[in-house]
Amino acid sequence: MWNDLKQRAAAVADRSILGLFDEARAEAFSVQTQHMRFDYAKTNIDADTRAAMLALADASGVAARRDAMFSGAKINETEGRAVLHTALRNLDGGPVVVDGVDVMPDVLATLDRMAAYADEVRSGTITDVINIGIGGSDLGPAMAVQALSPYHDGPRCHFVSNVDGAHIADVLEGLDAKTTLVVVASKTFTTIETMTNARTARAWMLDHGGDPSAQFAALSTNLEKTSDFGIPEARVFGFEDWVGGRYSMWGPIGLSLMMAIGPDGFRAFLRGGQDMDRHFQVAEGVENMPLMLALVGIWHRQVQGHATRAVLPYDQRLGQLPNYLQQLEMESNGKSVAMDGTALPVQSGPVVWGAPGTNGQHAFYQLIHQGTSVIPCEFLVACEGHEPELKHHHDLLVANCFAQSEALLRGRSLDEARAKVAGSFEGAELERQAAHRVFEGNRPSTTLIYPKLDPFTLGQIIALYEHRVFVEGIILGINSYDQWGVELGKELATALQPVIEGTATADGKDGSTQALVAYLHAHRA
Ligand code: F6P
Repeated sequence: MWNDLKQRAAAVADRSILGLFDEARAEAFSVQTQHMRFDYAKTNIDADTRAAMLALADASGVAARRDAMFSGAKINETEGRAVLHTALRNLDGGPVVVDGVDVMPDVLATLDRMAAYADEVRSGTITDVINIGIGGSDLGPAMAVQALSPYHDGPRCHFVSNVDGAHIADVLEGLDAKTTLVVVASKTFTTIETMTNARTARAWMLDHGGDPSAQFAALSTNLEKTSDFGIPEARVFGFEDWVGGRYSMWGPIGLSLMMAIGPDGFRAFLRGGQDMDRHFQVAEGVENMPLMLALVGIWHRQVQGHATRAVLPYDQRLGQLPNYLQQLEMESNGKSVAMDGTALPVQSGPVVWGAPGTNGQHAFYQLIHQGTSVIPCEFLVACEGHEPELKHHHDLLVANCFAQSEALLRGRSLDEARAKVAGSFEGAELERQAAHRVFEGNRPSTTLIYPKLDPFTLGQIIALYEHRVFVEGIILGINSYDQWGVELGKELATALQPVIEGTATADGKDGSTQALVAYLHAHRA
């Protein structure tokens, strides 16, 4: 099937996407739900290629795997775990059974405990909350707290992730240890960065008159370790190993978000995710937004061979969405072997990167428009901002968003470029100047447009991307829920620590590493 798809892609590679447009295309190549619209009409996908892509999804067993995931089957086969972050947002659904036990009573009880604690903190004397975590225990809540800042009526939230002491030092600077709550977020409660930062925060609190026994909370699956750290059970919010780190912001790891926007806002976020889950489970073929988003992704990366994917939110408050999606997509689908251990027949997932518009327009869009590689772009934009008094800003923002996808699609021909400079140059100089002003165009993009970035909508967007990653992973035949690729670096860092500290030698290391260690030690001496 891959060869057939690649041949189809090669056969249409040079055709004009603009030429595909007839009266029906915009509707036919968009998916609209009650809550948002995903437009992929500005891609080189036509009805035939789409049918072939849908057949690929069918042949890969997407529907069966989806049902298996929602029902609690252990689809994370390399770790022998279920994949049930969807249970965390299953507010109005029925039982979800893992190993013969309905997990929903515990999920809902933990949510209620989180809400009670969040209310207590929000109505008490705590002014600042520091979430200490990294990867999935940081990126989700950090992204969401920024995204939902118009709904923020709780304590200020800060995020410390990097083991670089600069991070925690800068965050602690100016905080009052007596009115600060530290939330240690770590699924395993063994992650070196998080535990190092947590110990530093505890020492700071003690030194500055705070009370760690009352001002620390923990979010983890490892209740033994949270207890060893000295955090009382009442302030430990546990979850199960069937919640992957990068899929965990819907449960306890979302506590800082809940403290910021309140339990009702947090539940609205969950409901947005739950609504997308239902859509994903029941919408058929071309009506299914996560499925179509995934198929567009597969078409661009594995079929057409574009190495990267730009995520471009025209929504300043989604400024951290590209970072968040980098972990979600690249840690999930950056794998080169299939579930059965054999080599993938196609490329793994793409490099995901991006930044909010319009800022990116004044930085890297030059390359997107005129560079030699095609970079499929994924635009996101809200119909409405949260600042009605600044509607003219929002109009300008939306105009820029739509203009960019139009420019990518249309480009500017040599004749049009010549006409542009005709008044200023002539002869050979005109030709030279015109050449620089040509835009190849025919560059693919998609647009996700939603009413307003409220908690429900953010829940929809995040669940949409989660399911997109799931579908792409199934089509690639990989396990999207493990991350063995992060292990080697961790092991080597642990082994190098004594070398850096000067208590062990760098013998046996490669020449480059030895030279770097020597330079470091010479500089320190
Ligand atoms: O190193 C990768 C990773 O395991 C991620 O998958 C995870 O989100 C992150 O580290 C943090 O892990 P933990 O929540 O266990 O501290």
